[in-house]
Amino acid sequence: MKKLRIALTKGRLEQKTVELLERAGLNCAPLRDKGRKLIAEIAGAEFMFAKAADVVTYVEYGVADLGVVGKDTLMEADRRVCEVLNLGFGACRFALAALKGSEFYKGYETKTVATKYPRVAKRFFERKNLDVDIIRIEGSVELAPLLKLADGIVDIVETGTTLRENGLEVIETVADISARLIANPASYKLKRAEIEAFSGLLSKSLEKA
Ligand code: PRP
Repeated sequence: MKKLRIALTKGRLEQKTVELLERAGLNCAPLRDKGRKLIAEIAGAEFMFAKAADVVTYVEYGVADLGVVGKDTLMEADRRVCEVLNLGFGACRFALAALKGSEFYKGYETKTVATKYPRVAKRFFERKNLDVDIIRIEGSVELAPLLKLADGIVDIVETGTTLRENGLEVIETVADISARLIANPASYKLKRAEIEAFSGLLSKSLEKA
């Protein structure tokens, strides 16, 4: 068996992945008790922990064979990695939102959209053949229409609470999002059996959920 290196997105996706592995019967104590260590090993596979965008980078360069990352990060990163499995958890959506009753699509003037995901937003409006100015914001994107920096936002909506509490509403869903298992394309060829075994293990656990 060739050894796999698997990059997990630190935080909630990491926790959910560990739960899946435990449901598959693996002892995940080294992952749970890793403290501040960034690499831990279980069942002959090495796990590393990184921020979402960096998980994609490690997998793209083949430093990690596999990764667990949100579809939101994948869509924005737009890199050469294979999507192996939809893990289902971390479900939310990308949406275009604006101030309640502001009728985003009304009028002919070029609209301004604030987002943490400029590529996703650009592609969305290009598909609509709509010319939109995009402003990149790092967080609390909902502030932008409130303070009139932008007419709308493209952002992640999970429960809808942040929008509701700030007087915003969804205009349109851009894409559904959830966590994905991704693979480096070369690893997928060279370690196909190992990758399919790992992906199969997660699939079975998901069925039990
Ligand atoms: C995310 C997202 C929304 C919010 C959506 O922000 O950007 O603001 O969660 O969740 P909800 O629909 O359940 O309210 P995050 O908490 O990551 O903080 P950020 O805005 O600083 O990025």
